[in-house]
Amino acid sequence: MVIAIDGPGGVGKTTVTRRLATLLGVDYLDTGATYRAATVAALRSGVGLHDEEAVLEVVQASTITYTDGVIYLNGESVASETRSDEVTQSVTPVSAHPKVRAHIVEIQRKWVEDRGGQAVVEGRDIGTVVFPNAPVKAFLTAAPEIRAARRAGDAEAADQGVAEIVADLERRDHADSTREASPLRKAADAFEIDTSAMGIEEVVATIMGLVSERRADKRPGAC
Ligand code: DC
Repeated sequence: MVIAIDGPGGVGKTTVTRRLATLLGVDYLDTGATYRAATVAALRSGVGLHDEEAVLEVVQASTITYTDGVIYLNGESVASETRSDEVTQSVTPVSAHPKVRAHIVEIQRKWVEDRGGQAVVEGRDIGTVVFPNAPVKAFLTAAPEIRAARRAGDAEAADQGVAEIVADLERRDHADSTREASPLRKAADAFEIDTSAMGIEEVVATIMGLVSERRADKRPGAC
């Protein structure tokens, strides 16, 4: 089954997703990394990031793959480049283009299909657009200061102040949730978890509870 984990930046999706995948013995896909790799391709090519057709052409001519938690662009690991400030700023316009999203979503669906439909997938639109029929959907939230503090613990954000991180998270929250194409939104049937006062293991246990419930459910669509 596909387990969809959505929510804003800094909420802890990646940590929770990796832990769930280990517990369930399946692969995980960080879809943010696929948009970041597309952004690296666009930046390297020098096309205007707001030019949808030009970005689409570059992205279509590139090969984006994700294996064991590492993102590759044309066979080269771009794991650290995708976490740079430049990419974090530039991914917003790139991921707002509907045609670019449609192309990237196909890559994401194929990735899951290649794994027999068994995966934990994290992002912003997994439960709403990419896998609307996922039997387990969690939507994680947390107060902005909590998310900023969690981000501050990430190596790539360590040299930024918390105020700067809060400002960046708020900028991206706004852009992600107000864009026209697949905005960040809780699916109607997703289970919302406010993780503000929860530890990772508690969040993971809550989602594992949803998985067990779904497995025990004998209705059509259950797994
Ligand atoms: O999860 P992240 O911060 O690595 O994601 C980077 C950007 O990619 C984020 O600002 C919004 C975009 N994104 C998206 O539009 N849809 C997704 N499913 C995942 C990420």
